[in-house]
Amino acid sequence: MCGIVGYVGPKSTLDVLIGGLRRLEYRGYDSAGVSVISPDGHLETRKKAGKLVNLVAEIEEHPLPTAHIGIGHTRWATHGAPTDGNAHPHLGGQRQKLSLIHNGIIENFAELKAELVAEGTTFSSETDSEVAAHLIAREFEKSGDLAKAFASVVVRLHGAFTILVIHEDQPDMVLAARRNAPLVIGLGDGENFLGSDVAAFVEHTKRAISVGQDEIVILRAGSVEVRSFDGKTVQPEEFTVDWDASAASKGGWSSFMAKEIADQPQAVADTLMGRLNSDGSVRLTETDGLSHEDIKNLERIIIVACGTASYAGDIAKYGIEKWSRIPVQVELSHEFRYRDPIITKNTLIVAISQSGETMDTLMAIRYAKELGAKVLAICNTQGATLARESDAVIYTHAGPEVAVASTKALTAQITAGYLLGLWLASIRGAVPAAELKRVGIDLLKMPGRVSQVIAGLEQAQRLGTSMADAKSVLFLGRNVGFPVAMEGALKLKELAYIHAEGFAAGELKHGPIALIEEGQPVIVIVPSPRDEDSLHPKVISNIQEIRARGAKIIAIAEEGDEQVSNYAENVIFVPRCETLLAPILTVIPLQAFALALSTAKGLDVDQPRNLAKSVTVE
Ligand code: AGP
Repeated sequence: MCGIVGYVGPKSTLDVLIGGLRRLEYRGYDSAGVSVISPDGHLETRKKAGKLVNLVAEIEEHPLPTAHIGIGHTRWATHGAPTDGNAHPHLGGQRQKLSLIHNGIIENFAELKAELVAEGTTFSSETDSEVAAHLIAREFEKSGDLAKAFASVVVRLHGAFTILVIHEDQPDMVLAARRNAPLVIGLGDGENFLGSDVAAFVEHTKRAISVGQDEIVILRAGSVEVRSFDGKTVQPEEFTVDWDASAASKGGWSSFMAKEIADQPQAVADTLMGRLNSDGSVRLTETDGLSHEDIKNLERIIIVACGTASYAGDIAKYGIEKWSRIPVQVELSHEFRYRDPIITKNTLIVAISQSGETMDTLMAIRYAKELGAKVLAICNTQGATLARESDAVIYTHAGPEVAVASTKALTAQITAGYLLGLWLASIRGAVPAAELKRVGIDLLKMPGRVSQVIAGLEQAQRLGTSMADAKSVLFLGRNVGFPVAMEGALKLKELAYIHAEGFAAGELKHGPIALIEEGQPVIVIVPSPRDEDSLHPKVISNIQEIRARGAKIIAIAEEGDEQVSNYAENVIFVPRCETLLAPILTVIPLQAFALALSTAKGLDVDQPRNLAKSVTVE
């Protein structure tokens, strides 16, 4: 999950690299480094443990020469602790004229390292990446052809990697290769860029190319050549980035997370845009890869995802099943991948991923495709690997999500999941069209309701700040509120580093109620009291059970719920809506609560410890 940038062109390479790394730092921030080749042909490298600011300080102390070619890296450590020595770039060859950066894991590095050690190569780091640097340098010293040397080595590497290389003796080109890790090209006028995602260069160009699996890039200022690992020329498709650099900047907010929470009305509205008619009917044009025949014959849907995206799946399951009557199961990608699931040609895999680069989810869909299933992706990143490997893609249009803790991507994913459920239902015909349209019309009103919730977050923020010393917070929910409880707990874990756990409220008396003691904070997502088959009375009973044992209750409830205030110290009200659509609203106060509590603890809310935005290793 590292950030990678490459550049060749007339600009100050250091400015381009540092600017790109700043926009990619959310991908990993254990260390950072850059290499450039000066106009008089000298390779120079600076690298430093810790966040990008440490590297910038290092360069201020030890300036780099002006250069027009270079590579940069910000690291999430896999092999070797986050130290200066393990920071990328890594230099290759005994004369150290080659510089390499790497995102991913080289699974066979040990045997390759043994081969090099046997020849007398000495290493200066504990990383797998340095092995590739020495191998390429060795092959270049033999052949004198850098592209050939590069190609001969990358085909030997197993695992997941995006690798960039520059060499002092070939100062006009950056070489890149990708296998199971993201890489995009930015096309400029007399300059070209490489990045882990388009955020690396979007301030310079919006013309981009996604590099495919097992492909090599030869990047020069005036040309871009893409070849397959076996040497065939590839004609990749160009796309235009549909957001600009300002969208990927904080814009005056205290944190990216705060900005992205506030972006949610737009994220939901943009995800609905063009897909939901004013009469409530759904029009999904991106699903051409799935025929109506396929949909009519569907016997099962398996949703695969990780973390917050998996909770989006858990929520969408309720709507998809209720409206389309197709059985849905939600599985964590890394669990699905390594069991023996029952997959038939009438199984649809729905993969949900903000980044589209989560290796666990990529491995899950590849496995499912091998077993004959069709895959539909719900993804927030244009041209991501997941999107390119799926039979159909419903893009969420939440814009770039930079904070590691996912917020606007989640509400957009839930929205996209509901659109999918309504679309499937309109083809399957199990539920009257009028009922589907009624839900669709309510869905159209959600952006406005989200705005109302955003405008009323002061109470959730105050409660979060007041509980900065909490050691544990429990979350309860039923039906669609249960995944919301799970998500609220995850936000608190990843932002405030405290114990937080989500439970199905009905499960409490089967064990977890033993956790309740005097003063235990419990946040309860309360369903609407309006539906005749509402679970509201049961949840009120659950609240009474824990209050009787000393719990302090914060309830998230629907406006107009007059009962709940009798049982909860604090009630945060959200606007009324269709029961199944409520998670788009009830999850938002939990985001604000976690953000406020983490801020009160003085923690870095955008880059929590040990985490990275996109987990591109298994
Ligand atoms: C959520 O706040 C976390 N950042 C994490 O659980 C994330 O949702 C998960 O890693 C999945 O990422 P993806 O959506 O990019 O696949």
